[in-house]
Amino acid sequence: MKLEIIILAAGKGSRMRSDLPKALHPLGGRPLLSHVFETAASLNHRGIHAVIGHGAGQVRRSFHFSEFPAVNWVPQERQLGTGHAVQQAMPGISADLVLVLYGDVPLVRRATLKRMLAIADTGSLVLLTLETPNPRGLGRVLRGPDGAIEAIVEERDASETQRRICEVNSGIMLLPVARLRDWLGRLDRDNSQGEYYLTDVVAMARAEGVPLRAVTIEDSGEVQGVNDPAQLASLERRYQMGKAEQLLAAGVRLLDPARVDVRGEVVAGKDVEIDVNVVFEGKVSLGDGASIGPNCVVRNTEIGPGARLLAGTCVEDAVIGADCSIGPMARLRPGTELGDGVKIGNFVETKKARLGNGTKANHLCYLGDVEIGENANIGAGVIVCNYDGEQKHRTVIGDNVFVGSNSVLVAPLRLHDDSYVAAGSTVNSEVPAGHLAVGRSRQRNISRWRRPGKR
Ligand code: UD1
Ligand code: CA
Repeated sequence: MKLEIIILAAGKGSRMRSDLPKALHPLGGRPLLSHVFETAASLNHRGIHAVIGHGAGQVRRSFHFSEFPAVNWVPQERQLGTGHAVQQAMPGISADLVLVLYGDVPLVRRATLKRMLAIADTGSLVLLTLETPNPRGLGRVLRGPDGAIEAIVEERDASETQRRICEVNSGIMLLPVARLRDWLGRLDRDNSQGEYYLTDVVAMARAEGVPLRAVTIEDSGEVQGVNDPAQLASLERRYQMGKAEQLLAAGVRLLDPARVDVRGEVVAGKDVEIDVNVVFEGKVSLGDGASIGPNCVVRNTEIGPGARLLAGTCVEDAVIGADCSIGPMARLRPGTELGDGVKIGNFVETKKARLGNGTKANHLCYLGDVEIGENANIGAGVIVCNYDGEQKHRTVIGDNVFVGSNSVLVAPLRLHDDSYVAAGSTVNSEVPAGHLAVGRSRQRNISRWRRPGKR
């Protein structure tokens, strides 16, 4: 059995009340459509066709550099219904079985689709249906007295009695290509929405004696569509709960599974602890015994064993060595690389900064375009002036250097090993090894100083 997959994603999503095409609204930090692509790609298939219409250019562009290069984009100029959408993709289909997925139904599980494939053959039609106490808005599955599926009727076209049916169409189906071309050609728009309904092929299959089968699930979240912001928000919570459960199953200690968001991938070692309201983005790895304090945002970062992020710390594109302590309220920007046992304290910002083992910057610093050796001490309020208004310059600081508080280091600059900068200095030329740089005016004390009096 050769399978191709058609993903319907041309709809406007007017209820999102957004200029962003619905397929691009993010779930877990990436477009809805990318979730469907991922699930589709995990099946044994001969091709993936995505039908796009509203914002087609934007949708295509946003997948330009993604890991789904092989998708065949199919334009649907006017959205005349799900049947019409599938028809647009048919010229590109050569397999004998087609799976229809929806771009706005992102959480359908691979295992469920495999169940459908397991009961499929090239001459039958398989529906994915849902038993739900709340069928509102969805197509109802009509079955005969013997339980056999006879048709699907859209809610707007359904009678009172039909609306009471609690088995609904998820929209996802497996169709035999040999029959499908003919069925699609015979669809009409004779319904309340004036659309070509894909669902009408079910009655045609029935009339022709094509076997109709269904996989029925009861977990509505899996086939929940995203039509409005409220549905997107509830799916996001569902998705995040799944991510939290994965972390818990891997042994991570989450102080509150409902208050962690993973918008990407987190790989964690043993005895990792994550406090509340932490957001992970992109690829994050957490070494054994690492701990993340409350309200941290961590993006594309490697955190070494035993390292601790304290409350309110933001980290992006960084590598943090073993047993570092970062924060509270520190900001590590892209290109930060910390050795082992580095301490970064409150209100310290780093960017393209390499700090060697045991180096400390405990309070209120800006460290940009710097390379700092081991066991250096950067005092409170030290600012590296890396930018002259036109260009960035580098600063190199050796091992065991001590930079006194409130010093300004004007790049390009080099402070050699064991050098020392007096507090409050402005340093703009090289300091040789072991030297003390004093870059400030000498203090004067003025005798018999009279305070200005009040008038
Ligand atoms: C559809 C089903 C309904 C089912 C429901 C499940 C039909 C006629 N109805 O209804 O039985 O219960 O899904 O969510 O199929 N799309 C296009 N081009 C179009 C129209 C739609 O690509 O011309 C895409 C949309 O972008 C969306 C999907 O098809 O991803 C479903 O379209 P939508 O209008 O949301 O279908 P429903 O009315 O919800
Ligand atoms: Ca519709």
